[in-house]
Amino acid sequence: MFKVGKIELQNPLLLAPMEDVTSIAFRKLCKEMGADIVYTEFVNSDGLIRDNKKTHDKLKITNEERPVGIQIYGGSIDPMREAAIIAERENPEIIDINAGCWVKKVANRGAGAGLLKDPPYMQKMVKEVVDAVKLPVTVKTRIGWDDDSIQILEVAKRLEDVGVQALTIHCRTRNQGHNGEPAWHWIPKIKEVVKIPVVVNGGIMTAEDALRAKEVTNADGFMIARGAINHPWIFKEIKEIFEKGFVSSFVDVEERIETALRHLRYELEYKEGKRAIIPFRKYYSGYLKGLYGASKIKQQIMQLDEYKPIEELLQNYKEQLKQHQEIEED
Ligand SMILES: Cc1cc2nc3c(=O)[nH]c(=O)nc-3n(C[C@H](O)[C@H](O)[C@H](O)COP(=O)(O)O)c2cc1C
Repeated sequence: MFKVGKIELQNPLLLAPMEDVTSIAFRKLCKEMGADIVYTEFVNSDGLIRDNKKTHDKLKITNEERPVGIQIYGGSIDPMREAAIIAERENPEIIDINAGCWVKKVANRGAGAGLLKDPPYMQKMVKEVVDAVKLPVTVKTRIGWDDDSIQILEVAKRLEDVGVQALTIHCRTRNQGHNGEPAWHWIPKIKEVVKIPVVVNGGIMTAEDALRAKEVTNADGFMIARGAINHPWIFKEIKEIFEKGFVSSFVDVEERIETALRHLRYELEYKEGKRAIIPFRKYYSGYLKGLYGASKIKQQIMQLDEYKPIEELLQNYKEQLKQHQEIEED
């Protein structure tokens, strides 16, 4: 059972924090597709205390997406405490601390997974944050820095001891980055040493993976990152497989294209014109992956910077695909 503050959910599906991906728009889309809890991308504590506008904007949440967690990161205790207080003013359901980011510019400066190099310090930082806010505090971390330093059992206990209300474990080491098999087998071991909910993360790319993760880990929640990019239906599919043991709904071409457009329209609700349209270009190849004639459409779409012509292009493409399918079926 995932019980954190007022949230009480059985087998919840969590949309992972992802930099430049988990915008309000994407969180809303995933929510509609069945995600139970969503997270902002990580927000830099130093940027928050300097009142940097771009950093501050990342804290924005909407009622539609609740329950939502705001994730903060940093390597120093005072800015992290202050950042948590600033984040709390936005009134999310959860304040999450990033102790898992592996990229050098974060981890080598003692933030993110860098905290795993010094568990007593990490515990101290987390305690200060827990004590500074009224909201529940959770931590997202990894099993260790590298294969020779897997300290997650000690870390989990330390964090529970200072009042952390749930843990998300990306079941890889810092040195693995996003590669290699996730070591899900750590989850049952962690659950033996702590009473707080433990969420499994890493390697859930399909509904079948989620079912396997459930069987192997008996985790209290399932967090999905890359598996949701260009595939937000994954949440529906996981719900189905958890309930019935198989996925019966099939996402057809029409729904893929309609979802891409819906995602873009949601981005446009929160960002103006090109500020939404240009970063969105990174999603077309995923949404259109494997479709007949997609490479030509992708080339054309990259030239467009307004919604209407993009919609027209994709709607026409959808019709072409239907006709192509009918010819194939004849
Ligand atoms: C594009 C991208 C951005 C990410 N940004 C964050 C982040 O801001 N905070 C965080 O805790 N993890 C971040 N991660 C890591 C994911 O939350 C997750 O732990 C990791 O991708 C493993 O899960 P997966 O196998 O389901 O992708 C990011 C991952 C990706 C692919």
